[in-house]
This record gives sequence, C-alpha cells and structure tokens, in this order.
Amino acid sequence: MAAAKHFTYVILGGGVAAGYAAREFAKQGVKPGELAIISKESVAPYERPALSKGYLFPQNAARLPGFHTCVGSGGERLLPEWYSEKGIELILSTEIVKADLASKTLTSSADATFTYDTLLIATGSSVIKLTDFGVQGAEANDILYLRDIEDADKLVAAMQAKKDGKAVVVGGGYIGLELSAALKTNNFDVTMVYPEPWCMPRLFTSGLAAFYEGYYANKGIHIIKGTVAVGFDADANGDVTAVKLKNGNVLEADIVIVGVGGRPLTHLFKGQVAEEKGGIKTDAFFETSVPGVYAIADVAAFPMKLYNEIRRVEHVDHARKSAEQAVKAIKAKEAGESVPEYDYLPYFYSRSFDLSWQFYGDNVGEDVLFGDNDPTAAKPKFGSYWIKDGKVVGVFLEGGSAEENQVIAKVARAQPPVADVEALKKEGLDFAAKV
Ligand code: FDA
Ligand code: NAD
Repeated sequence: MAAAKHFTYVILGGGVAAGYAAREFAKQGVKPGELAIISKESVAPYERPALSKGYLFPQNAARLPGFHTCVGSGGERLLPEWYSEKGIELILSTEIVKADLASKTLTSSADATFTYDTLLIATGSSVIKLTDFGVQGAEANDILYLRDIEDADKLVAAMQAKKDGKAVVVGGGYIGLELSAALKTNNFDVTMVYPEPWCMPRLFTSGLAAFYEGYYANKGIHIIKGTVAVGFDADANGDVTAVKLKNGNVLEADIVIVGVGGRPLTHLFKGQVAEEKGGIKTDAFFETSVPGVYAIADVAAFPMKLYNEIRRVEHVDHARKSAEQAVKAIKAKEAGESVPEYDYLPYFYSRSFDLSWQFYGDNVGEDVLFGDNDPTAAKPKFGSYWIKDGKVVGVFLEGGSAEENQVIAKVARAQPPVADVEALKKEGLDFAAKV
C-alpha cells in the first residue's frame, strides 16, 4: 500500500457543501496543499438542484461547467482550474469505504489512504431504492433514480431512447413533482403514483396540494393517490414494461422514475460519533462529538436555535450556509477566536413548469390558506401561514416576486402575533408586508 497522503483539512464528499466550504476556506486563507476534497463523483462540486430542473430541459439544457458551485447563490463559478490555482486538491472518482476517526485515516475502495488534522463530513444523502424493500422486478432497466450527474445522464439517455413514451413516476415528494413536470415538458405521457392523500405531505397542506394537483392534471399528468408500486414487468431485454400497483391496477411504462426519499450517508462513522435524528450530531459550529471532526449539510443534526431543537435539513440553502459556518468556526478556533452560533431560518423552494414557490420557517400549528389557489388562474399567487401559540411561525408563497419572498422570510423570522385568524386570511400577503 502506498504511503498515506496527509492534508490539514479534508472535506469528504464533493457536492454542494464541499464547494461552498472550499470557497470559504479560500476566503479565510488556505495554503497550497493544505486542503483536499475527496469525492466519489468524477466532476468538481456543482449545484445539485439543477439536475431535476435545467438539466432536463428539452432545449438549451444546463450542462457542466455551467452550474458548478457557487453560481446557485449568485457567486463565482468554481471551475476545476479555480481549485488548482488555489492549491486545493480535488481527489475525484474516489470512494472512501473506511473512516477511522481515532487514527484520523480515510481509506478508499482502491486502498489509497488519506490522513487529516481536521475532517469535514459532507457525504450528503443517497436515494432509497425500491430494491431495498425487495419490490418484485425493481431491478429492471429504465427504473431510474436521481441523485447525481451520472443518474441525470442515464435519465436523459432513457428519455431519448423512449421518446414520446409513457413514464410512471413513483413518489409524490420533491423528486416526484419536479420530475413529472420535466417528463411532461419532454412530451412523455406521465402518471404519478403515491401513497398519501395529497402530494408533498411533509410540507403542503391539503389546500396547497389541491392547487398543484389541479395544475398538473390540467397539464395532462395523471395522478393516482393512496397506493404504491408492488411489482414491475419487463420484456426479454430486461426493460421495464409495466408497473403493478397495490390497488390492482397495472400501468404501461417505458420509463419509471422513483423518488421515495433520501437517507443521510453516515454509515462510515457508525459507532464513532454521536448521532441523532438519523444524522451526525453537531454543535452550533457543526463540530461533532469527536473534536476536529465536523459534519455539514444533509448529514448534520444540529441545534436549530430558533426552535430550540436538534434538526436535520436536506436542502441546498442549509448545505451552503452550514458549510460556511463550519469553515468560519474552524478558522476562528485556530486563531483563538469564536464566531456566533448558527441561527438558521429554514428555507425550502421548488420550481416546475412556470411555477415557483418558497417556504420559510416551520410548518407546524394551524394553517391559514390565503390568495387564489385556483389551478386555472393565469398568474397564480397564493400561500399559507402557519400559526403556533398565537404567532406566525411559517409562510409559503407561490408566484411571489423577489421582494415578496424577502417579506415572507422576514415574517417567519419575526414571528408576529396574530389576533384574528379570519382577518389574516382576508389580508393575505398584505399582513406580511406590514411586518
Ligand atoms: P451532496 O449530495 O450535494 O454531496 C455529497 C457528495 O458526497 C457527493 O459528491 C457524493 O458523491 C459524495 N460522497 C458520498 N459518500 C462518499 C464516499 N464514501 N466517498 C466519497 N464521496 C462520497 N434542495 C433545495 O433546497 N432546492 C432544490 O431545488 C433542490 N433540488 C434537488 C434536486 C435533486 C435532484 C437532488 C438530489 C437534491 C436537491 N436538493 C434541493 C437538495 C440539495 O441538493 C441537497 O440538500 C444538497 O445537495 C446537500 O448537500 P451535501 O453537500 O450535503 O450533499
Ligand atoms: P421526499 O421525502 O420529498 O418524498 C418522498 C415521497 O415518496 C413521499 O412524499 C411519498 O409520496 C413517497 N413514497 C414513500 N414511500 C413510497 C412508496 N413505497 N411508493 C410510492 N411512493 C412512496 O423525497 P424525494 O422526493 O425522493 O427527494 C429526495 C431528496 O432530494 C430529499 O432530500 C429532498 O429534499 C431532495 N430534493 C429536494 C428538492 C427541493 O428542495 N426542491 C428537489 C429535489 C430533491
């Protein structure tokens, strides 16, 4: 075995958080050869959200190097050359299969070893597969998932091979909604299947979901709720031909896209660090129970100061901000200084067709729908407030302008009291504008 390669700082994972952490290291000052990113992927960090949106456009599709980090938040695009100019080593196509935190050593599948003084775990999430629950026939060709650029390329190739065909989308969450729209835009006959009474139940209320389900139906997307895929048929080539549902229906399919959730990639560290809520437990600076080891973005279970609770967040805004916070904290500690605690306001968003929504805060308590959620409206604008203990704690808005989205973010942070729920419903967005 070759001698271990040593770095002062290693970022394990080459996704969104890795790109933003590298930029922050460069800002704070890092010497050539001090920092390495080790990634299973073959490309430099990129803005993952593009994969379910611009990457799948039928025309003028987004392609690398167009969406390397940090363009997603309006910053400089870090091309592979940027890393070499800064002396940051990008160790790509390298999967770490063993992490020994006691000896500060990482080992790759090709048996290369890396040692570090400080480690940032940024391994993100993996997709839950139907083969994980032994769904019959789920290993057939063209049953596809979407997590990284390799998956996205397989999807693009399948869309070309099965042009104008039938697509079944399993799952009614983020991937389900964004991919159904992408497939429809690519002229597929799309059917969505999910077990819940309405789509995106972890965020949407029935009133919000009614709009999106109506809008999708008007675009010609068929929606089958309250059931799941229990098996698949394939032809002699092993290509999927049909999806069998628990309710007895059988749907013809040329392509199946599955989006039934993600799982944080923490297995390398099991038994070596404290865990909570399925993630690696950290403090407000993203340091884990092992000194010098930090966990950021999807894998971190961190103190959400605003709600006085440990939470995990699987969204890009937190990936970017947690990366920056951890690097600032590492550098401050080295200088004998400190940084303020992470004080995160949850922010989620999605875009599909001509739609675009943003959500800030917490979706708990009583919900109050406002605006016009008619799916046939020419310019839909509506939303929801969530009220807990007499205060607005969360706000959702479809079709908001940049200023209006800033206003709802301010409300979710300020948590203004609500005296009259009926008046709030009537006032709608005007209430937020006055806060
Ligand atoms: P991320 O997944 O970005 O990166 C993890 C990296 O670690 C990958 O490069 C992976 O290969 C690598 N890795 C893992 N294990 C490894 C190992 N053992 N060895 C080496 N490398 C390893 N959010 C949002 O707010 N709005 C949106 O619109 C979207 N859209 C969206 C679309 C799609 C298709 C996905 C999959 C996800 C989104 N998200 C999103 C979620 C968002 O992208 C996600 O929360 C961040 O990418 C998380 O950043 P991380 O850096 O934690 O993981
Ligand atoms: P999700 O948790 O959003 O949705 C999972 C959905 O799977 C559930 O809503 C449910 O409808 C469905 N489901 C569960 N079990 C099922 C079964 N057996 N059969 C059929 N349906 C079933 O997860 P996702 O959509 O797979 O997204 C994966 C990850 O990617 C998440 O971390 C998500 O945050 C991220 N992502 C985020 C965005 C965004 O923020 N705009 C976009 C894409 C992906």
